[in-house]
Amino acid sequence: MGKEFNVIQVGLGPMGKLITNLLIKRKNINLRGAIDINPVVVGQNLSEFLDIKDKSEIIIHSNLEKVLTKEKVDVIVIATSSSLDKVAPLIKHAVKSGSNIISICEELSYPFEYYPQLSSELDDLAKSHNVSIVGTGINPGYLMDLLPIVISAPCQEVKSIRVTRMMNSAKRRESFQRKIGTGLTIEEFHQKISNKEITGHVGLTQSIQMIVAALGLEYDEISEFPPKEIISEKEFTTSYGEIVPKGYVCGLQSKAIAKYRDMDIIFLDFVAYAGEHEEFDSVGIEGIPNIHQKIIGGIHGDIGTAAMVVNLIPRIMEAKIGLLTMKDLPVPCYTGHIWKNRS
Ligand SMILES: NC(=O)c1ccc[n+]([C@@H]2O[C@H](COP(=O)([O-])OP(=O)(O)OC[C@H]3O[C@@H](n4cnc5c(N)ncnc54)[C@H](OP(=O)(O)O)[C@@H]3O)[C@@H](O)[C@H]2O)c1
Repeated sequence: MGKEFNVIQVGLGPMGKLITNLLIKRKNINLRGAIDINPVVVGQNLSEFLDIKDKSEIIIHSNLEKVLTKEKVDVIVIATSSSLDKVAPLIKHAVKSGSNIISICEELSYPFEYYPQLSSELDDLAKSHNVSIVGTGINPGYLMDLLPIVISAPCQEVKSIRVTRMMNSAKRRESFQRKIGTGLTIEEFHQKISNKEITGHVGLTQSIQMIVAALGLEYDEISEFPPKEIISEKEFTTSYGEIVPKGYVCGLQSKAIAKYRDMDIIFLDFVAYAGEHEEFDSVGIEGIPNIHQKIIGGIHGDIGTAAMVVNLIPRIMEAKIGLLTMKDLPVPCYTGHIWKNRS
């Protein structure tokens, strides 16, 4: 058996909490610090904040830089925002301390097209400090990009790829339900989407960019369509106690397509709304052979995202250095029994 991986968690919102709980549970991981800027949580004992019995000496700090001056860790996990502009300053501080970065920032999952200059800056910085940076999560990061990439491996030819994620958003965290417009009127939904008060799902374009890069596919354009609201057919109460009347928004559908010579070569269909409908994740490849894979019941996005992050910790230590994406890492898998410096 080798040693434990030393890790700091940044961001203790609903996702950060789930990740931190898993970090604490994993025997091959030693959580060294927890950071969040929310003044309500700063200064609290981490175990009390997480409401777990396992007593921790860790006090939640507001400033990553100050924590980093005390010690260097193997990996810093960042779960603060979907926007790379907002996350980049944290990444830079963390990389300068000599730590690898795993973030669930959706825009980091494939940043090269939207942020070419910042991407090359982060790549240079990571290389000069001998570390790796990667954006991951369940989606983007796995279901609608890495999974279809891997499923295409036994194909002699790939003509098109279609990925569908169909989920019951009522089972997801409150922040997710809110960002897909749950409980809004149709007018409020369109207004909040257009003035970016809510984001809907972020990452479909990045997922397509990762697939075309991995498979080397030629394409003319990638289009992501504005999210379309889904309307509740009956009144219901959300998991956080809000009543959503019939006729109000209960979720959304988002689509993105890559076209080549008027053919849809990649089609991503993301559907999330509160309801009793079937949940699944499916990948269809038209090629030689045709492949149709379906995950019955789908994968719970919050549980899956926490696992993706924590399972990636041993993997990023074995990865090449620089700004990477999920397609560049050693094969991701469950890593609860992988130790540092294993022989
Ligand atoms: N890739 C994927 O599959 C995937 C899956 C799930 C979630 N995500 C993304 O992950 C992010 C986190 O999710 P969430 O629901 O936990 O979000 P959230 O509710 O916004 O929580 C983020 C937490 O980070 C804190 N924070 C913000 N900036 C910070 C900084 N510079 N330093 C330290 N802490 C900071 C926030 O404090 P304040 O509240 O005071 O700002 C808040 O406590 C979201 O952007 C979400 O879209 C991605």
